[in-house]
Amino acid sequence: MIIAGQAVALPTETVYGLAADALNPKAVRSVFEIKQRPQHDPLIVHLARIEQVDDIAFAPPILKDLAAAFWPGPLTVVLKKKPIVPDIVTSGLSTVGIRIPAHPLFRKILKVVDRPLAVPSANPFGYVSPTQAEHVIDSFDENCPMVLDGGPTEHGIESTILSLADPETPVILRLGPLSATDLTTVLGTPPSIHSVVDNSRPLAPGCMKRHYSPKVSLKLHPDAASIQREIQTCRNHRHTGVLLLRRTLATESWPLEIKVSWLSETGSLQEAAHRLYDSLRKMDADPLLKVVHCETPANQGIGTAINDRLLRAASRD
Ligand code: TXA
Ligand code: MG
Repeated sequence: MIIAGQAVALPTETVYGLAADALNPKAVRSVFEIKQRPQHDPLIVHLARIEQVDDIAFAPPILKDLAAAFWPGPLTVVLKKKPIVPDIVTSGLSTVGIRIPAHPLFRKILKVVDRPLAVPSANPFGYVSPTQAEHVIDSFDENCPMVLDGGPTEHGIESTILSLADPETPVILRLGPLSATDLTTVLGTPPSIHSVVDNSRPLAPGCMKRHYSPKVSLKLHPDAASIQREIQTCRNHRHTGVLLLRRTLATESWPLEIKVSWLSETGSLQEAAHRLYDSLRKMDADPLLKVVHCETPANQGIGTAINDRLLRAASRD
């Protein structure tokens, strides 16, 4: 199907993606159409092997070290592109995002089709990314492309994007499973973190303030105690949900109508990231819920990426 120019949804270790032949502009256009994605939002090209990078982009020497440390895995690098990459993939930019994924099923497909694949997350533009095959099916209804079911994805949030467009000044464009500290171990100095909170000038549209957004309204809290205080003053318990980082016994004394869930039994932030999007989708599917109070983690390691997604999901701008 992919070789014939069709898009196929498949699992990656981060989120489910919608894969098309990156060198076939018609196939790539269909991905934009299925997602209703604006043309100014470029796609990431996924490859099987690091040797293929030179076919499509100009790699600085540091890429070898980054690849040895993090590929295959949840790292996307932005490099100066070669002309072979169609403009529709990169939205006319002079750079291209590249990732070598780790998911065994995806790797098998990359090997069989033997060409670069353009793969955005398999969700309608702006909505929460899918971390299970059912999420993809739910999102697209009758327009759903073929979906390969590989079970729930490992990381649960999208790859970390590092721009090496200017290799002297690496910039993190999107936070993800690999933290700035992880990247610093290879880069030697900490990369800067691009944090745009201005929708009118997206450098990478994943950097738009409102993105990954459920329909239900989210209110963010620094800890469970702050949520407890909020609940004491609110009346509409039937319409209120709570999303905690870990299970706490304190919630057993809360009004029963409040729908409480937690992202991890133990408070593991890896597990919280893994379950975040599924939890947001479940809350969205509950017709009674109007507001969900979310506990946010400390800004450390993957906690920073979880906060980034929660902030965007909560934004109404
Ligand atoms: O984990 C992931 O990266 C997933 C899986 C499927 O691989 N893919 C993903 O793709 O999240 P997508 O299209 O949903 O998000 C890609 C982000 C967008 O925000 C886009 O703007 C940015 O990557 N991007 C792609 N190429 C870029 C470039 N040349 N310069 C700057 N940003 C770029
Ligand atoms: Mg996406």
